[in-house]
Amino acid sequence: MSIKKRDWLFVALIIIVVGFFIAISGEEKTTKVPHDETHRKFQAMVEQEGKKATEKFCKECHNPDQLPLSAAHPPPFRCLFCHKF
Ligand code: HEC
Ligand code: HEC
Repeated sequence: MSIKKRDWLFVALIIIVVGFFIAISGEEKTTKVPHDETHRKFQAMVEQEGKKATEKFCKECHNPDQLPLSAAHPPPFRCLFCHKF
């Protein structure tokens, strides 16, 4: 039983490492969050409250009615996981 548990931990570790490299390789291609009046305040918010709390505000403007994302855009669940400041 203990061997089985260790195997799963090993699989989980590999998934984390692979996911980490995918995230890094995507980072360079992805547009940065602009450094303008609109977006600057979010950078401070990330430092204080974290990415997850900040991302909720992105959709106030970046939504299908106001500023639709391009059709080629990947699923936009965690904006700041891909878009850096
Ligand atoms: C008050 C409205 C508003 C909010 C809130 C907002 N944005 Fe934006 N964003 C804009 C507008 C307008 C543009 C396009 C004009 C520009 O480039 O400044 C833009 C542009 C962008 C771009 C660059 C697009 C390009 O082609 O370079 C990214 C990336 C982006 N926003 C990400 C975010 C993220 C991530 C958040 C949440 C932290 C966010 N925005 C919150 C209004 C907003
Ligand atoms: C899985 C990674 C990923 C996530 C998550 C993500 N984006 Fe993007 N985003 C990209 C990529 C890649 C591009 C295209 C860059 C290019 O074409 O140069 C892009 C482009 C954009 C653009 C430029 C206009 C367009 O549609 O191409 C805006 C604005 C933007 N994203 C906002 C957001 C917002 C807001 C969120 C969260 C609701 C978000 N993104 C989540 C990867 C991501």
